[in-house]
Amino acid sequence: MAEKKRAKYNGIWLAAAVCALSLIGMSSPSQEDEDLRKKAEEIFGALPRVMSSEKNPITPEKVGLGKILFYEPRVSSDGMLSCARCHPVSLYGADGLKTSVGTNCQVLPRNSPTVFNAASQISSHWAGNLTDVEDQAQHALIAAYGTASGATAEEKLKAIKGYGPLFARAFPGEKSPVNAENFGKAVGAFERTMVTPARFDRFVQGDGNALADGEKRGLKTFIETGCMTCHSSPYFGGQVYQKFGVFEPYQKYTKSTQLDEGRSAVTKNEGDKYVFKVPILRNVEMTPPYFHDGSIAGLSDAVRIMGKIQLARNLTEKQIGEIAAFLKSLTGEIPEDVLKVPVLPAGE
Ligand code: HEC
Ligand code: HEC
Repeated sequence: MAEKKRAKYNGIWLAAAVCALSLIGMSSPSQEDEDLRKKAEEIFGALPRVMSSEKNPITPEKVGLGKILFYEPRVSSDGMLSCARCHPVSLYGADGLKTSVGTNCQVLPRNSPTVFNAASQISSHWAGNLTDVEDQAQHALIAAYGTASGATAEEKLKAIKGYGPLFARAFPGEKSPVNAENFGKAVGAFERTMVTPARFDRFVQGDGNALADGEKRGLKTFIETGCMTCHSSPYFGGQVYQKFGVFEPYQKYTKSTQLDEGRSAVTKNEGDKYVFKVPILRNVEMTPPYFHDGSIAGLSDAVRIMGKIQLARNLTEKQIGEIAAFLKSLTGEIPEDVLKVPVLPAGE
C-alpha cells in the first residue's frame, strides 16, 4: 500500500516537473520521439565501453604494447608500413584512399575499412576471410607487411630489443612471449578499446534532444525503408554477409571496372559471388570513399545507391539528405588514450 502511494506521489512529482520544464521553454521530446528512441534502443542499442573478448582479455599492459605495435613500421619488409599508415587514427582509422597502397607502393584491390569499433564483427575483412581482429593483426604482420613468414616477422620483432620487456609484461609467465600470435593479441586488445561513442548513443540512452529533428527523420527512414535489416547492432553492420547488388549489379552504379567476387573466393561457393560483409557505419561520414573498392566519393551517393540496389527503392533527395544527416550523428569521440601517439622502443 505504502509502495503504491509513493509511486503515485512520484508520478505527481514527475508530472509537475515535466510541466515546469515545458513552462520554462525546454523542449521535452514528443511521444513520437520517445517511441523512435525506444525502437532505436531495441534495434541498435548503444556502443559498449570496450569490445571485450573471452579469448583475449584486455589488460593495460597488452593495450599499451598493442598501441606501440600499431605504429611500428620497422617489422614490415620495406620498413615503411604500419597499421597506422593504412588506418591513421587522425582519419578515423581509414586511409582516405580508394584502395590502399602496400609494400613497395603496390596498389591493393580493396579500400581500407576503419579500425574503430571494428572488433565486434562476425569476421574481419570485406569478404570475412579472417576470424577476428587478433587473427587479422597477426595476418597483417605477415601478409600486409610483405614478410615471408611468421618466423621472419618474429625475428624482426626480436631484433628490436626494447620489445622484450614489453611483451614479457603483457604476456606474463610465457617462455618466449615475443611472437606473431602475441603481436595479434596485443594489437587486438588495443583495437578492442577503439570505441567511439556518439550523439546517437546519448539519444538511445535517454537524451531525446541529442539528435536534431532532421536526424530523427533520417533514423526513422533508415529503419522503415529496411537499411537496418542489414546494418544492424550498435555498430550498424558487421553482423551478416549480403550480396552487394541484390536488385541490380553494383557496377551499374559504382562504374567499377574491376569486379570483386567477394566472399565466393573464400567459401568457393558460386552463390556467394559479390557477397560481402555488411560494413559498419560508425563514423562513416569520416571514412570516404565508400564501398569495398572505394568507388563512390560522397556519402549521399552511397546512400542513394544502397536504396536502389539493396532495396529497389528510389529514395527522394529529402530522404537521402536526412539519412545522411542521421549517419553523421554516428561520428563519435575518439578516446583520449587512443589519440596519444606512443614512442616506439629503441632497437638496441
Ligand atoms: C597496406 C595497408 C594496410 C596495412 C599496413 C594494414 N591494413 Fe588493415 N586493412 C587494409 C585493407 C585494404 C583492408 C581490407 C582488406 C580486405 O578486406 O580484403 C584492411 C582490413 C583491416 C581490418 C578489418 C576491418 C573490417 O571491418 O573488417 C582490420 C581490423 C585491420 N585492417 C587492422 C589492421 C591492423 C591492426 C594492421 C597492423 C597490424 C593493419 N590493418 C595493417 C589495409 C592495411
Ligand atoms: C541487403 C543488405 C543491405 C541493405 C538493405 C542496405 N545495405 Fe548498405 N551495405 C550493404 C553491403 C553488403 C555493403 C558493402 C558493399 C560493398 O562495398 O561491397 C553496404 C555498404 C553501405 C555503405 C558504405 C559503407 C562504407 O564504409 O563503404 C553505406 C553508407 C550504406 N551501406 C548505407 C546504407 C543505407 C543508408 C541503406 C538503406 C537505404 C542500406 N545501406 C541498406 C548491405 C546493405
